Amino acid sequence: MAEKRRIYLDNNATTPLHPEVKKTILSAMEIYGNPSSLHSFGRQARSHVEQARDHVARFIGASSDEIMFVASGSEGNNTILSILNCECRGCEFNSCRDRELVTTTIEHPCIMEASKCLKERGMKVHYAGVDADGKVVMDRFKDLVTGNTGLVSVMMANNEIGTIQDIRTLSGIAHAKGAMFHTDAVQAVGKVPVDVNDLGVDFLTLSGHKIYGPKGIGAVYIRKDSPFCPLIRGGHQERGRRAGTENTIGIVALGKAIEMRALEMVEEEKRLLQMKEALREGIRTSIPDIHFVGHPTDSLPGTLNVSFDGAEGEAILLYLDLEGLAVSTGSACASGSLDPSHVILATGLPQECAHGSIRFSLGRENTMEDIAYLLDVLPKVIRRIRGMSTAYARRQ
Ligand SMILES: Cc1ncc(COP(=O)(O)O)c(C=O)c1O
Repeated sequence: MAEKRRIYLDNNATTPLHPEVKKTILSAMEIYGNPSSLHSFGRQARSHVEQARDHVARFIGASSDEIMFVASGSEGNNTILSILNCECRGCEFNSCRDRELVTTTIEHPCIMEASKCLKERGMKVHYAGVDADGKVVMDRFKDLVTGNTGLVSVMMANNEIGTIQDIRTLSGIAHAKGAMFHTDAVQAVGKVPVDVNDLGVDFLTLSGHKIYGPKGIGAVYIRKDSPFCPLIRGGHQERGRRAGTENTIGIVALGKAIEMRALEMVEEEKRLLQMKEALREGIRTSIPDIHFVGHPTDSLPGTLNVSFDGAEGEAILLYLDLEGLAVSTGSACASGSLDPSHVILATGLPQECAHGSIRFSLGRENTMEDIAYLLDVLPKVIRRIRGMSTAYARRQ
């Protein structure tokens, strides 16, 4: 029997390893010295870690000593928000304790939850809203950032709808009020050009598994001389900013993933954009009663979010899965919950639409044939689901 077709269109949830990264991981398994050890085994591990740090730094326009490795994008984001809550005596960030946080209504759950936690501890947290395309509403944002603001955190690209924010303008507004600026660039780094100096950010988070590296490794950019307070204590690693013996294999693999992005990103993302536009056009011409969510142009090249009236996102996902197509509803972390996506709701779409939204996120292994197959299957799936919906039938 012929093997069933399986097409992965969920690259914003995670990506397959790049073949070069896989090779690098296999050889990195031989490097077992502790990078903190002074002997040759330790020095060998240290040199691999520092080489990877150089790759990450160069890719985002930073210097190597501004890069701190962490275990995930979630850890990086939590670390940056938690410095607002620093209570250490003598710690440089302690003076920020009574200052406020400004973030947005469409952040990844790790920022949403970390900010909620700060709020529960008595800190003032303000959430800037977005317009129908998912862009931060500038006038409202300007009002929220005041002389009391300690930190502003705005994601560079949204994981669900792909909208890219004007980080340079937002960071300029924050700095004009004396606040520091963090961007969660987990979905942006490796997909669109990112330069920390052009963006004017003080902190930036990235993650390995979104760019064909392994899971469980990420990095945070910390601008030189920015105040900082560690989340994980008990060791001198990462210049005393994050304790714990370094994940040498993960770090070396992240360095390789970034090295490959530097070589391949521009051409590949052009290809993803062509595929996305073919998909958008195919859906637009073959399926009625749909809404594209996200900015039409300021958007991740491979991300397309569509809401289908009269069809539940979970049903669409499961029917597509039966046909070998892997997509997602809401964010990967929120899948499994039937709550409508906070991101889609924040764009102003009603609950019913938020329930019917599907994210297609393309990656380097996808081809135009995948898009053609999806465009063959999807209209039939939507027709079938809508055929079972009395509410949709009543509307017709
Ligand atoms: C925008 C964004 N931020 C943060 C994260 C969390 O990254 P990690 O999975 O490495 O913890 C994700 C993962 O989906 C994301 O999309």
